Amino acid sequence: MSDSTPRKPIRPQRIRKAVFPVAGLGTRFLPATKAIPKEMLPIIDRPLIQYAVDEAREAGIEQMIFVTGRGKTAIVDHFDIAFELEATMRDRAKTLEILEPTRLAPGNLIAVRQQVPLGLGHAIWCARGIVGDEPFAIFLPDELMIGQNDGSGGCMKQMVDAYAEVGGNLISVLEVPREEVSSYGVIAPGVKRPVRGGALTEVIGLVEKPRVEDAPSNLIISGRYILQPEIMAVLERQRKGAGGEIQLTDAMAHMLGEQAFHAVTFAGKRYDCGSKTGFVEATLALALEREDMADEVRAMATRLLGL
Ligand code: UTP
Repeated sequence: MSDSTPRKPIRPQRIRKAVFPVAGLGTRFLPATKAIPKEMLPIIDRPLIQYAVDEAREAGIEQMIFVTGRGKTAIVDHFDIAFELEATMRDRAKTLEILEPTRLAPGNLIAVRQQVPLGLGHAIWCARGIVGDEPFAIFLPDELMIGQNDGSGGCMKQMVDAYAEVGGNLISVLEVPREEVSSYGVIAPGVKRPVRGGALTEVIGLVEKPRVEDAPSNLIISGRYILQPEIMAVLERQRKGAGGEIQLTDAMAHMLGEQAFHAVTFAGKRYDCGSKTGFVEATLALALEREDMADEVRAMATRLLGL
């Protein structure tokens, strides 16, 4: 589809709501994730879900909608008051500042359940009643996005800025080596258009987990979305796709001819914390960025590598 193709109005509207699908089984991290949700695994001293919620707040998003499953209550508890802990810390004259990011305004955390993990698309659809008739953001918390220190902000902030200019649907993409595409959703890129602080690529096709030889590009969808509410009606009819799951990518592909779709190339770093090596990479990279740890960790790494 080219830029001249007629499309429905793109309904620019402030992004107030974010959906965090956290009902997956986290099988790649078993047995660690048998009793603890994957999203509560920490990169140093913050659980993955906290990084995602912080990124949402930075982008001006107010309402956090968690699609949870059984055994995931620790995620909701994390953003509640820890009464005994806080009282004890106060008694011991300890500051509670460290807990500040875990507080959300009353009513701004909503949890819905996905009873059976039927796939990412199904998880998003479970939030339809809360999302209602407005555009919304989606965060996959196991993809950790760290912005650059240049004022452009985190990934969702960059996407919200782009949305203010072009509206429609946006997905965050990044380039990977071609042989890795079959683990991801891949876009077929169209025309590039410049926007403030970067470039947007028109999305003309989307395919989930293609074979390397069939992949339309090496640009993969990377865990952040801004979608129009019409996606919910598409998800309602969606059949199972790759892996026997109801795929969000397939539903988005159905909307391509109807509404504008653009890809934002995130200016920053992305760590795939859903994989063990990505998780270790994120831990190391963030430790090396921290003033309180960098020297010690660098010395440790040097020692371990025998350098
Ligand atoms: P993943 O496939 O990466 O996560 O789903 P997973 O299933 O938890 O992990 P593995 O592959 O078994 O190790 C991407 C995101 O979608 C959510 C997951 O929680 C994760 O945030 N998800 C996935 C759901 O909420 N429901 C589902 O049915 C599937």
